[in-house]
Amino acid sequence: MKHTDIKDILLTKDYISKSVTVCGWVRTARDSKNMAFLALNDGTTLNHLQIVIDKSSGIDFPTEAAKLGASLVVEGTVVENMNNQTPEINATKITVLGECPGDYPLQKKFQKLETLRESPHIRVRTNTFNAVFRVRSVMAAAIHRFFQERGYVYINTPLITGSDCEGAGEMFQVTTIGYSTEYKNKEEYYADDFFGKKAGLSVSGQMEGEVAAMGLGKIYTFGPSFRAENSNTLRHVAEFWHVEPEVAFAELPDIIELAEDMVKYILRDYMEKCPEELKFFEQRFEKGLTEKLENIVNNDFEVVDYTDAIELLKKADVKFEFPVEWGCDLQSEHERYITEQIYKKPVFLINYPKAIKSFYMKQNDDGKTVAATDLLVPGVGEIIGGSEREWDYDKLVNEMKARGMKLEDYKDYIDLRKYGSVPHGGFGLGFERMIMYATGMSNIRDVILYPRTVGNIR
Ligand code: 4AD
Repeated sequence: MKHTDIKDILLTKDYISKSVTVCGWVRTARDSKNMAFLALNDGTTLNHLQIVIDKSSGIDFPTEAAKLGASLVVEGTVVENMNNQTPEINATKITVLGECPGDYPLQKKFQKLETLRESPHIRVRTNTFNAVFRVRSVMAAAIHRFFQERGYVYINTPLITGSDCEGAGEMFQVTTIGYSTEYKNKEEYYADDFFGKKAGLSVSGQMEGEVAAMGLGKIYTFGPSFRAENSNTLRHVAEFWHVEPEVAFAELPDIIELAEDMVKYILRDYMEKCPEELKFFEQRFEKGLTEKLENIVNNDFEVVDYTDAIELLKKADVKFEFPVEWGCDLQSEHERYITEQIYKKPVFLINYPKAIKSFYMKQNDDGKTVAATDLLVPGVGEIIGGSEREWDYDKLVNEMKARGMKLEDYKDYIDLRKYGSVPHGGFGLGFERMIMYATGMSNIRDVILYPRTVGNIR
């Protein structure tokens, strides 16, 4: 259908006095005896275009055109509104494409995010979700640009896999047959399944990313990861988008530098390209958001040793729900205290105890810690997890054995340490968490089109 985007009409005065055709959904309607005013939105901008209908002009104005949510094609002349000088349209012809009955879920102007979650297919027609998804799109493009400009090769890693990268047993199983008592045991059942062995949805593209980096030097992946975590929190979903660079000839400080550069690049690009959306989030969701983002892009992130962080937490004048001791896995309340109360900025925590981290992380010389890092940010907590990888064959194999892992499931991965092994590392950014941080949206379910969480799929 030939038509003009509402964004273009509102952006300049170029269309004044011109005849145009626009399409959109009715956001508000005022209908009186002689005149009617519709606010039309086609999704191209957060702003609505006012359609003015002068009923005395003889225009055919069907009552269905004044219903919230109805979709219309409007022909008319662009004029300047006398009061606020914004362009609007004096309609000459209105066609209803799709009528919209009274049970349309967006009858009220402001709806709770919770209520909107019940209509994921309709909530995209609100300004909140328009802004979220536009920012998501701009940030995805920025991520690709960041890595492409630096010579990283974009790799698509498999989504179905035979090995659990994080070893945390949070994989969704992929099968074409249901388990039946006809099988003597699980092994027999898996052998009969599609791949002849147990398979699942990948929790991370890292293992295959390492394979690619060992030939291509610098790579990144950007795709979905799946985790069957039974955690009903504001920052976990079962299907999330994962950005994972992997770099050969790199150590932990190189990985930290890359992560900081990437986060700043994404935020700068977003602030430059989405001023309208940023203003909207500032007004509706997080006061001081712009200032927060400006501070982040203009200042260094903090790098703090896990051991030092534990000391700081122990001295803290607050009662945590989970007690803090060296060796404990930090809970969200601890992470947030570190980044929100102590440093008030993004913090890379480094050198975690070996026992609470994944098998593949490079073991430090102290024999107790690994060269891992998590990036913690105010408001959200962890948005990045990464590490230098153990590249010594014996150390890796011994660690896997100590954890009772089946070495044959990781043959390719171990081989990388056999044939020309090099220091290397990478990280994973949770894309939804990055969006939460950039927009001030506090629930991860509100930054993805269809959130998948425990007991929730449609
Ligand atoms: O810390 P994680 O588990 O690290 C890895 O998966 C590594 N293999 C990454 C790597 O080194 N290539 O996950 C990385 C990030 C987390 O910091 C978090 O932002 C996000 O992925 N994440 C989730 N996001 C939403 N919902 C979940 N259930 C998530 N689990 C992890």
